[in-house]
Amino acid sequence: NVVSWWGGVQMGPPDPILGVTEAFKKDTNPKKMNLGVGAYRDDQGKPFVLSCVRKAEALIASKQLDKEYLPIGGLGDFTKACAQLALGADNEVLKSGRSITVQTISGTGSLRIGGNFLSRFHGGPKDVYLPKPSWGNHTPIFRDAGLQLKAYRYYDPSTCGFDFSGALEDISKIPEHSVILLHACAHNPTGVDPKIEQWKEISEVVKKRNLLVFFDMAYQGFASGDIDRDAWAVRHFIEQGHNIVLSQSFAKNMGLYGERVGGFTVVCGSAEEAKRVESQLKILIRPIYSNPPMNGARIASTILSTPDLRALWLEEVHGMANRIIKMREQLVAGLKKNGSTHNWQHVIDQIGMFCFTGLKPEQVERLIKEFSVYMTKDGRISMAGVSSGNVGYLADSIHAVTK
Ligand code: LMR
Repeated sequence: NVVSWWGGVQMGPPDPILGVTEAFKKDTNPKKMNLGVGAYRDDQGKPFVLSCVRKAEALIASKQLDKEYLPIGGLGDFTKACAQLALGADNEVLKSGRSITVQTISGTGSLRIGGNFLSRFHGGPKDVYLPKPSWGNHTPIFRDAGLQLKAYRYYDPSTCGFDFSGALEDISKIPEHSVILLHACAHNPTGVDPKIEQWKEISEVVKKRNLLVFFDMAYQGFASGDIDRDAWAVRHFIEQGHNIVLSQSFAKNMGLYGERVGGFTVVCGSAEEAKRVESQLKILIRPIYSNPPMNGARIASTILSTPDLRALWLEEVHGMANRIIKMREQLVAGLKKNGSTHNWQHVIDQIGMFCFTGLKPEQVERLIKEFSVYMTKDGRISMAGVSSGNVGYLADSIHAVTK
């Protein structure tokens, strides 16, 4: 008689984003499209490894480096370059040493370490205010870290754009010292970002409320094709005196998805405070995964610190962002060609990897069932999965369920 320990364990639902890929893989329709997970594809629909990454790998291999443990906080060359990429190399914060960056298991790992750090040390309310909607994984990350989830208005379904006045109104009522999460650029899932003037006002209101700002920057370079432009909000908030915390990912902008490399940065009041924070981040990390994996960090830091590889990378980021913009235009052209009378301008106006189509759950269901076009239930499509070869089919399919 075998004793079962897990008889009370209930079947859980598939992941709202990664579960889409599982369903897609089982589909035998040759026309099937996976527009679920945000992972870049080339115009042949194939996973894309950047040339700068291949070159960095060759360079690293030629050096015959050892495979010792990294320090708990990660590869020093990487964390330095990572912070410089976000803040700008000549940022006063970096020059004065009043920040600390640790290497993390990509963006998710960074958010989780950040969540754990806030849960343990933040003296204010343990409430994190997310934009409505936000990336699906934000909620379980912060919840499992022991924080409470709240929300502020962000997306306006009537315009498929930014609800600026709603956001300001909600933010101005957030209790002091709470945590507010901001997507630095290329908001996921909506593809809707505040404009520069709007960011300035948000910064003012956040300052008035004395909120702790948690920036999630998973798509630096993917919004505009320019890494500095995409980091504008982060740099502006720091300039305005916000001592932010910041999560970074190299999954999308370097295509290092499976390498799992990212960073978590805390901007502190002084260099001495940063040292204390660093010591506690190490104490947090050590019992979870001891120290981070080295390969992705080596690749990223090689690219960032080798001038010709860095230049090639910037070109390639630009290329990826541009291909997506082209697909947005072709999708709308295809819908119009089919005679669609809806206003699809938001498909073009939204930026980054995703398009929040406005498709209703039953339309999404039909797209999946009848057309094998896979996407998340909220109607988000990853534009990065659209190519010249399948954009026509996508336009036909969307038109069929919306006419
Ligand atoms: C997405 O939203 O599709 C990406 O951030 C990938 C992920 O881990 O969910």
